[in-house]
Amino acid sequence: MALIALAADKGAPGVTTAATALGAVWPRAVLVAECDTAGGDLAYRLPAQGGGALNPARGLLSLGATARRGLQPQQIQEHTQQLVGGLEVLIGINGAEQAAGLTWLWDPLAQALKAMPADVLADCGRIGSNPEILDLLVQADLVVLFARPTLDQVAHLRERVVTLGRALAERGRRHPEIGVVMVAEQREYGRALAEVRRVMQGAGLPDVVLGGLAYDVKGADLLRGEWGGRLDRTLLIRSAREVVGTLLARVPGPVGPPAREAAR
Ligand SMILES: Nc1ncnc2c1ncn2[C@@H]1O[C@H](COP(=O)(O)OP(=O)(O)OP(=O)(O)O)[C@@H](O)[C@H]1O
Ligand SMILES: [Mg+2]
Repeated sequence: MALIALAADKGAPGVTTAATALGAVWPRAVLVAECDTAGGDLAYRLPAQGGGALNPARGLLSLGATARRGLQPQQIQEHTQQLVGGLEVLIGINGAEQAAGLTWLWDPLAQALKAMPADVLADCGRIGSNPEILDLLVQADLVVLFARPTLDQVAHLRERVVTLGRALAERGRRHPEIGVVMVAEQREYGRALAEVRRVMQGAGLPDVVLGGLAYDVKGADLLRGEWGGRLDRTLLIRSAREVVGTLLARVPGPVGPPAREAAR
């Protein structure tokens, strides 16, 4: 189904946190795939379903080892695990050294992820330093860049939207739309979104702002533990629901979501 790439230009605005929060409230079958070439964090951050630790060796690396001769969508499921709460994840590699041996993987991986019977949220990390991830990004249905509303991040974001748009257009005739989600305190949303729109407009860019995700320390901390009623009511999760609606409106997929979240 849909492949949505989540990424940042620089800094650590909260891409991995956003991937987890969006995945947790995604209303259709979904897989969070850690494709950050700088290394994944989920295995060290969140417990597995049942309370034990996630297995850091079962994920992208083990998938890569079996996929040299071709990658079928059904192979991916053999390398995924479930987070506490039931979210399906493909655990990432542990850093740049492993990524160096997997530069060939991103193109077949994107094809296989798109052919899965679930939407995929691919956490692609910071995209400036790992150009090979363009092989995956160009095949996504939507690329979402996350940033915080600081002067430097907004300036870098503008440059990234321009260079990424160019790089994607060079690679594929059919290339994905780029959208921006600002991670900001809720009372700053209006100002932050208006500021980014103004900066983009000044650079002659279309309106790429998709919305805001709450900067919510309590919610981000709770996301490291068990899913519970308290997490459900956090600003982070409530804002994630709104972002999910915006993203789903922009990607292909069946109409009428199955009640994955309602079943929770
Ligand atoms: N929406 C948020 N509200 C509050 N804190 C957040 C939020 N998102 C992330 N954080 C915090 O910021 C830090 C970095 O978050 P995260 O790992 O999600 O960022 P990232 O963009 O994936 O970084 P990296 O590029 O290192 O992978 C973490 O301590 C996390 O708890
Ligand atoms: Mg991350």
